[in-house]
Amino acid sequence: MTNLLRCLTFTLCLPFLSARGAAQVAPLIANINARQTTSLDGQWQAIVDPYDVGWLDYRAQPLENNHAFYKNYKPQSESELVEYDFDTSGQLHVPGDWNTQRESLLFYEGSVWYKRSFDYTKSGKNRLFLHFGACNYFAAVYLNGEELGEHEGGFTPFDFEITDRVRAHGNFLVVRVNNARGKDQVPTVNTDWWNYGGITRPVTLVEVPETFVQDYLVQLEKGSTHQIKGWLQLNGPQPQQTVKIRIAEIGLVQTVQTDSNGRGEFSFGADLTLWSPENPKLYTVEIAAETDQVIDRIGFRSIEARGTDIVLNGKPVFLRGISIHEEAPTRPGRAWSEDDGRTLLGWARELGCNFVRLAHYPHNESMLRMADQMGLMVWAEVPVYWTIQWENPQTLRNAENQLNDMIVRDENRAALIIYSVANETPVSEARNRFLRQLIQDAHSADPTRLVSAALQAHEVTERERITIHLDDPIASDLDVLGNNEYIGWHSRRPDEADAIDWVSPYGKPMIMSEFGGDALYGYHGDARKRWTEEYQENLYEHQLAMLKRIPFLRGMSPWVLKDFRSPRRVLPGFQDYFNRKGLFSDHGEKKKAFFVLQKFYRELQNAQYLSN
Ligand code: GCU
Repeated sequence: MTNLLRCLTFTLCLPFLSARGAAQVAPLIANINARQTTSLDGQWQAIVDPYDVGWLDYRAQPLENNHAFYKNYKPQSESELVEYDFDTSGQLHVPGDWNTQRESLLFYEGSVWYKRSFDYTKSGKNRLFLHFGACNYFAAVYLNGEELGEHEGGFTPFDFEITDRVRAHGNFLVVRVNNARGKDQVPTVNTDWWNYGGITRPVTLVEVPETFVQDYLVQLEKGSTHQIKGWLQLNGPQPQQTVKIRIAEIGLVQTVQTDSNGRGEFSFGADLTLWSPENPKLYTVEIAAETDQVIDRIGFRSIEARGTDIVLNGKPVFLRGISIHEEAPTRPGRAWSEDDGRTLLGWARELGCNFVRLAHYPHNESMLRMADQMGLMVWAEVPVYWTIQWENPQTLRNAENQLNDMIVRDENRAALIIYSVANETPVSEARNRFLRQLIQDAHSADPTRLVSAALQAHEVTERERITIHLDDPIASDLDVLGNNEYIGWHSRRPDEADAIDWVSPYGKPMIMSEFGGDALYGYHGDARKRWTEEYQENLYEHQLAMLKRIPFLRGMSPWVLKDFRSPRRVLPGFQDYFNRKGLFSDHGEKKKAFFVLQKFYRELQNAQYLSN
């Protein structure tokens, strides 16, 4: 693991730092749920601030006095003017997007201030960190009236060290979250998903020893099914320690010495039962340093691309997948909990999936851990979506940072097999350079996994036959080629797929990362009638027949598991701000096409098509 990528985190947040030199986001602590934690979830006081009066004066200059909301200031006399009060301003639930908590905030894009009071007594020389699972899109964080720092990016975790800032009593934590869209951001201003704002994932106090195990990687060496290769990173005044790595179930104990930077590298053989969809074996792995101990549940599997095959544990595999947005299965809004993950992945399992594409941004950690437990291979993606500012170095660093944090958080998840660096991005030299940088970052940060992107191929029509060519210039840099196509919906009739062939000069495996069409659940009619379940059903039948004929196809993740909110979908009576390409409605009802795909996956499974 190169340190370059990990130090990117620091540099990225510099531009947002206020002149006051606030704290910085701390290096991400891995596996926080295995630490001594205190949840700050629940009802938080909240102020909706569309004009940012909470931190800017009428000249749009940063406020430094008690008028700044992060001061949480109360009038000291009946004549003192204070124009905000958290305690009488209503509440919002954390974690949760604000859009689905109040009708008035459904379309809201701007700042919302959150306040949470808490007492905390830390023991001895221990250190204390404040961990956010995610805030969309930009967060400025303050503790007891002082700035801790800022974070950009709506789908990755961040920490602040508050060891010397926390009080035993009367702490007030204030967070300004802003989800306003910006051209230079990642994602940029245009997405086909709802711009849910807020503190969308859990907030946790994490108490650790003075020198603690900050991060680690314990996975199989690339291409091996028995050699574990990894590293660990201590953080604190005692960097040089003897650390034991234990996998009690196989009687394995390995000793590692950390160096003066607190880093220890290791490689050792182990006789393991490999993780796979039909046997998602997880081991209890203990990392015991002299001053700290962390326990994780880790699976071991090897994943490679060999020619046009995707090879799991040495055997070619076909990825029977579905694409999923991070929306709660049975209630409006963002998903974040284990139950949400269990239900969504349970639906994918019911479809006959062994693979899920978590689109288009890093989903919550519990989703990845649930996929580990349930035996679903995962495609994870950073929101480099459509038309990003390819020439903007800040935008590139932002994308690199999000990629880095996604890898840091999930690199020990056996389920995670593919990193995707982009979705449907228009070919240009600047774009190619941008994506090549991300591909290189992913490969150097984690050489054990495959790197892909959702590309778009081009049609060539000769007489009756249509040939679609994969010809994206960055395909040569990828391990696996993803491709999105909407034959039968955005272009052509469904039956025209019968005359379509696919060619690729790359000799690499392809995953059809998106295909599908909209249907309103319960709306029935002729298969040629748009929006009917019969149209979607028919589209799937023709699609699956076409896909079967693609010689280098090694997986698919149809668009999409469940209808989801989108500001781009405005057709009354049919869309009503929902993308209706789900196989489940937004109320969890199965559409006819669900059964077409389920039957197809059962046939593949029974036919041992490319095994398991
Ligand atoms: C695109 C895109 C999705 C979108 C889908 C659609 O391919 O990647 O984010 O929702 O098409 O049009 O439904």
